[in-house]
Amino acid sequence: MEKVTVQLGERGYDILIGSATLPTLGAHCRTLGPGTAATIVTNQTVAAHYLTTVQSSLAKADFDVSVCELEDGERFKTIRSISHIHDHLVARRMDRNGLLVALGGGVIGDMAGFAAATFLRGIGFVQVPTTVVAQVDSSVGGKTGVNHPRGKNLIGAFHQPRLVFMDMNTLATLPRRELLAGIAEVIKYGVISDPVFFDYLEANVEEILALEPGVTAHVVRRCCELKAAVVADDERETSGRRAILNYGHTVGHALEAVTRYRRYLHGEAVGIGMVAAARIAHREGILDEDQMERQRTLLQRFGLPTEIPARIDRAAVADAMTLDKKAAGGHIRMVLAERIGQVKLVAFSAEKVRELVRGT
Ligand SMILES: NC(=O)c1ccc[n+]([C@@H]2O[C@H](COP(=O)([O-])OP(=O)(O)OC[C@H]3O[C@@H](n4cnc5c(N)ncnc54)[C@H](O)[C@@H]3O)[C@@H](O)[C@H]2O)c1
Repeated sequence: MEKVTVQLGERGYDILIGSATLPTLGAHCRTLGPGTAATIVTNQTVAAHYLTTVQSSLAKADFDVSVCELEDGERFKTIRSISHIHDHLVARRMDRNGLLVALGGGVIGDMAGFAAATFLRGIGFVQVPTTVVAQVDSSVGGKTGVNHPRGKNLIGAFHQPRLVFMDMNTLATLPRRELLAGIAEVIKYGVISDPVFFDYLEANVEEILALEPGVTAHVVRRCCELKAAVVADDERETSGRRAILNYGHTVGHALEAVTRYRRYLHGEAVGIGMVAAARIAHREGILDEDQMERQRTLLQRFGLPTEIPARIDRAAVADAMTLDKKAAGGHIRMVLAERIGQVKLVAFSAEKVRELVRGT
């Protein structure tokens, strides 16, 4: 198993990356503390594939295991689901030494993390991410939370996991569209901080699509290293460093909102947002045409959409960008690439954003 450590002092933790390692999860959880109660938070879809293995692995390591199963889907990422987890924990008399185990994608991880952050003012939790998005992004960094009817991820807390444990074999059952959407976030890491990794992705498209084990391990590990470094630098997004992870997200979030979260998976919208950001950077004289084109071409080679459809109203996208929770003081801060591997934050007025989005 490969190990990446998130250097956050007493809140630091390991990310363990392997293949066919799920049966050893319990033994690793056992090293985390004296607690003997574990609750697995998952959904029906993921449970059908992996619950039995995870349950018996924890039981074998002497955990008293219970399962809290939630409905599958972003629309269930609500405060109601959190109450449901809390009710389960109260009913089973979970104490402060208890452990929550998040088994699933980003939706489950964000919710289990938030339930762990708030139950008894904070208990430990372990991320067992089973999607590309969750393995390369959401399980690392401690952002937890749920959606509010007026916006995504508006309610939440920073709460770092005690361990992130990924078995890459779980990706084999992931629907193809989910796999591809996760790859948009992978490409993002190359653009924001690692040109060599971007070259590697360009050279290994077929291998990545086939989930070739050595290549997949390298890709997941490199993304985790890059995310861990950013999080260690700026845990709570106060210095601006963590904001670079939002590359492609300003337009992406707006596009999701305008299409009412129905048309695009998050990663698909981020891919389109990356191309839009690259075009804006090129138009502003920050990025060369060739570097812009490489981003679009790579996304396209992975079968990802790259264009905002003509029938989507650009003005509505620009308006949604100004409503995003990351807009500050009437200005919209966008992450723009100067070249592949190097980005900077640029603030635009709402008027300028309207003009720029019109041209994407
Ligand atoms: N906390 C963070 O830093 C952060 C970062 C990025 C995204 N997110 C959040 O993550 C969420 C998106 O996560 P996601 O893309 O993983 O979506 P998801 O959790 O909804 O999972 C996608 C689908 O795949 C299914 N699934 C999961 N693993 C599977 C497997 N191995 N085999 C078969 N099916 C499987 C799920 O049940 C679901 O239907 C969003 O809510 C987003 O806000 C959080």
